Amino acid sequence: MKKTLFLALLMLSSQMAEAKQVTVQTKNMTMVLNVDEGKQPQYVYFGAKLSDYDLAHLQAPRGGRMDAYPAYGMDCPAEAALAMRHADGSLATELVATGVEQQDGVTRIHLKDTVYPVTVDLCYKGYQDVDMIETWTEIRNGEAKPVTLTQFASCCLPIRRGNVWISSFYGSWGNEGILCEEPLTPGEKIIKNKDGVRNAHTSRGEVMFSLDGKGQENSGDVIGAAICYSGNYLLKVETDDSDYHYFFAGINPDNSEYHLRKGETFVTPKIALSFSKAGLSGVSRNFHKWGREYMLAHGNKERKVLLNSWEGVYFDINQQGMDQMMGDIASMGGELFVMDDGWFGDKYPRKTDNSSLGDWVVDRNKLPEGIEGLLRDAKKHGIKFGIWIEPEMANTVSELYEAHPDWIIKAPKREPVQGRGGTQVVLDMSNPKVQDYVFSIVDNLMTKYPEIDYIKWDANMSVMNHGSQYLTMNDQSHLYIEYHRGFQKTCQRIRAKYPDLTIQACASGGGRANWGVLPYFDEFWVSDNTDALQRIYMQWGTSYFFPAIAMAAHISATPNHTVQRTTSIKYRIDVAMSGRLGMEIQPKNMTDVEKEICREAIKEYKEVRPIVQLGDIFRLVSPYDKKGIASLMYVNEEKTKSVFFWWKTESFQNEHLPRVKMAGLDAKKMYKVHELNRIDRFPMDIEGKVFSGEYLMNNGLEMPRSNNPKWASMRSDWSSRVLYLEAE
Ligand code: DGJ
Repeated sequence: MKKTLFLALLMLSSQMAEAKQVTVQTKNMTMVLNVDEGKQPQYVYFGAKLSDYDLAHLQAPRGGRMDAYPAYGMDCPAEAALAMRHADGSLATELVATGVEQQDGVTRIHLKDTVYPVTVDLCYKGYQDVDMIETWTEIRNGEAKPVTLTQFASCCLPIRRGNVWISSFYGSWGNEGILCEEPLTPGEKIIKNKDGVRNAHTSRGEVMFSLDGKGQENSGDVIGAAICYSGNYLLKVETDDSDYHYFFAGINPDNSEYHLRKGETFVTPKIALSFSKAGLSGVSRNFHKWGREYMLAHGNKERKVLLNSWEGVYFDINQQGMDQMMGDIASMGGELFVMDDGWFGDKYPRKTDNSSLGDWVVDRNKLPEGIEGLLRDAKKHGIKFGIWIEPEMANTVSELYEAHPDWIIKAPKREPVQGRGGTQVVLDMSNPKVQDYVFSIVDNLMTKYPEIDYIKWDANMSVMNHGSQYLTMNDQSHLYIEYHRGFQKTCQRIRAKYPDLTIQACASGGGRANWGVLPYFDEFWVSDNTDALQRIYMQWGTSYFFPAIAMAAHISATPNHTVQRTTSIKYRIDVAMSGRLGMEIQPKNMTDVEKEICREAIKEYKEVRPIVQLGDIFRLVSPYDKKGIASLMYVNEEKTKSVFFWWKTESFQNEHLPRVKMAGLDAKKMYKVHELNRIDRFPMDIEGKVFSGEYLMNNGLEMPRSNNPKWASMRSDWSSRVLYLEAE
C-alpha cells in the first residue's frame, strides 16, 4: 500500500475513534457522519436502517475521500462542492467542523473557514414516516465585503463503487422524461439544465443509482436523488481512481457566480435522498409517498377528470364552442373543463401565438359574455371551470410591453432575442414589480371570478437573453437565481391567498416536472405529445420520481396531432388512465361509440381513482426493454385492491410476449379479476376468476395478444388491458 494512502487511512481510523457520530434516520434508512471538531466531517454510512448495535460498531469506510462538503483551495485536488473568491481575492477555503445541533428534526453540522469569517451549515432532515432525507447547505458571509461563490452545491455524497448504474431522464419538447440507463464509468457524468425557466426539458434533475448492476424494478439496492429547485441545476458524478463515485448536486453555477454580501446567507435548494432495497420501483414509492405527503399541493386529494380545449380547438375559442365542449365532457362524466390558450387580448386579440401575452383581459369578440358567461355555462352543465394563463411571459405585441418594456429579460444595450411566435419575451421575475404583477394576474382573476377552480400555468420560453434591467450591472450573474427566487415568492403569495385552487404546471409540456415546483402546483402536464404509444415511454420515465396523481395524461384524437399515429380509443384510454385521467379532444368529432366507451371508462376510472392516484406503484415490464409490452400496477396500502396495466408496445406476427409476474400483492390473499374498459366481444377467460396473490406474483396471467372488439372499426394493432383486482 502506498505510504500516503496508509497514512490517510490511519488518520481516518484515529478520527473515527474520537469523532462524534451523527445519525440521520428515517423509517428504513440510516445516514451516518462523523464530526470531529476542527476537521472536515466525514460520511461513514448511507443505506438500509442500522440497529443500535451496528451503529455502535461501524467500520470506517476505506479507499476514498469521505468529506461531507469538500471546499476548494486547501488539500483539495479533487472535485469540490464549494468554491469562492474571498473579499481579498483569495480562492482558498478550508472548512472544519465547529459543532452539531439537532433540533426540530433537522441536523445541522456547523463548519467554519479556518482563516476567514465564513461559516457553512450542512443541514439534514430525515422523515420518520417516509424514507426520505432532505439535505441542503447554508453559506454565510461574515467578511467585511462580498465574497463571490463560484461553486455552491447543495450536497456531495460518496457512493461505493461496484457496478453502479445510473438511471437518468432526458428529452425535450414532445419527448420528455425518457429513461437512460448506463453503468458509471471513470470520468465525469454531468446532467444539467441551462434553460433558465423550464428546468425539466432536455434533462431532468433526478437520478437513481442502482448499486448492484443494471437496475431491477423490484429488487436490489437503489439510491434516488432529486433536486427540489425550479431553476438551472447541475448533477455531477465524478469517478476517479478511488473506490467511490462522488455525487454532487445543486444549482448550476454556469454564468451564475453569486456575490454574497456581508452578513448574508445563501441557502441552497434541497436535495431529496432516498434508499430502497426493493429496486427502482421501491425508490419510486418512497418519492411518491414523500411527495404526496409533504411536497405536492393537495397531494392526498383525488383529482377531477377534465377536458382541456387545446388539442380540440387550439386558438379557436368562442362562447358557443366552449359551451358545447363543457356539455360534452359533462355528459361523459367529466368534472371540469379547462379553457386553454386564445381567450384574451383587447387591443391585440390573441389569434395565434404571436401576440397578447401580458394582456389578461377577455377578448370580447370571442367571448361576448366574458368569463361570467363561461362560469354560468359550467354551472349549467354541473362541472367546474378552469383557465389557461402564461404569467411569466409577454409578447412584444402587447399592451403590457408597450407600458413596461423595462420589465422584460434582455441583455443590456441589446435588442431582445424573441421566442415563440417571433415576439415572445420573458418577464424579469427578479424585479419585485414584476412579481407583484404576476401575482396580480391570478389575484385579479380569482377576485373577480372566485368560482374558477383550476389554473393551467404555462411557460413557453427559455431565458434566451442574458440580462436583467432590474439587477445592477455588477449582479447580472444573479439573474438565473433571482428569477427563481422571484418565481418562488410569487407562488408562495398565490398559495397563501388561494390555498384551495388547483394549479397545473405546464411548460411547453413537461418542462416543469420538478419537486421544487410542485409544492405550489397540484400536477404537471407530462408532454404536449399525447400519442399513447410514446406516452408509455414518457410516463414510465416520469413515474420514477413523480406519482400518477401529479401526471396529467389526456385522451386525444387520432391521427395523433404530434406523431400522426392512429391508435384505438381503448389504447388511448388505457394509457391515460394510468395517470391523472383527462381528455384533450374535440368531442363533437368523436363517434357515439367512442363517446360511450369514454363515458364508461370515466365511470370506471372514478372507481379505481384512489388506487391509481394514491396507491403504490410497481413497475413490472419496461417498454425500454423492448419485450413487446409494457406493464405496471398500482396497489392500495392494505393490498386489497389493485389496478394492473398491460400495453403492447410492438406488433408482430408470432411475437413471443412474456407473461407478466405481478408484484406488491399479498401472497396470502385471494384476488378476483375484473377487466376494465372492456371492448372485446367476449369476456377474458380470467374474468370473475379468483387467484392467489402468490400465484399472480410467481406466475402471472396470460393476456390475449390482441383485442377482439365488438366493433370492427375498433380493431387495432395497439392492444392493451386493464385489470382490477380485488381481494375476496
Ligand atoms: C404549450 C402547452 O404545453 C400546451 O398544452 C398549450 O397550453 C399551449 N402551450 C398553448 O399555447
